[in-house]
Amino acid sequence: MTNNSRLKPGPIGVFDSGYGGLTILSEIKKLLPEYDYIYLGDNARAPYGSRSFELIYEFTLQAVKWLFSQGCQLVIIACNTASAKALRTIQQNDLPQIDPLKRVLGVIRPTAECVINISQTKHIAVLGTIGTILSESYEKEIERLEKNIKITTEACPMWVPLVENREYDKPGADYFVKQHIDSVLAKDKEIDTIILGCTHYPLLLDKIRNYTPEAVSLISQGEYVAKSLKDYLSRHQLMDSLCSKNNETLYCTTESAEIFESLASFLLDESITANKVNLKIKE
Ligand code: DGL
Repeated sequence: MTNNSRLKPGPIGVFDSGYGGLTILSEIKKLLPEYDYIYLGDNARAPYGSRSFELIYEFTLQAVKWLFSQGCQLVIIACNTASAKALRTIQQNDLPQIDPLKRVLGVIRPTAECVINISQTKHIAVLGTIGTILSESYEKEIERLEKNIKITTEACPMWVPLVENREYDKPGADYFVKQHIDSVLAKDKEIDTIILGCTHYPLLLDKIRNYTPEAVSLISQGEYVAKSLKDYLSRHQLMDSLCSKNNETLYCTTESAEIFESLASFLLDESITANKVNLKIKE
């Protein structure tokens, strides 16, 4: 890669296993509308939640490399599972070899930073995929910031498939939502804040709210990830200058473009077109 292309401004890459990252992208675009974005959903291989560390790392690295090949200098992994399982290895082992100027950021740290100021009781619940919960990433990030917080976790393995299969607003979803809300709240009666630690979960928010007492705050991450990105770009002027600003967004998926367009347009409340892409790039 020449120095010229290394320093050419490109879109901000936003990656998720499927549709969930759209909940992050839409909040980022509200706060930073002037930037260009490439959204990549690996819908053909979603959900990632119950997959092994090795596969999640391999898929996430492929996605990051593909986004770099499209000119991105900065990639947001808008997926908790991929952030929990792959982000650190990519940042520490892969990026220095790929290109030390490029950056990859996740969603867990910005969420942890915001939540410690929201809970009054200092009893917090984290809902996530099996991969995110087993990684204990939220416990590690929150405890690094504040020692006196009690964290209770709950894996909700059926919730992502409900979204990916368009069942999230159907009556059948109620059973799985209630099951996990009841279960997590029974583990600790003092919980006053629940982190929706999976970017797909905000799409179930209406149902989650129905089964959660009003006094308990529900935290969707998009707003906090967006604020954290804005702050990051204001503190990193070189990276900011490497992010192009024409107010354009490209949507890409590893599934059929038509399938992605249909649900993504509905979720974003705007008609979008998508490209089907193959993440296996020649090195
Ligand atoms: N949106 C991803 C997350 O935040 C879902 C993971 C999955 O594909 O299971 O964890």
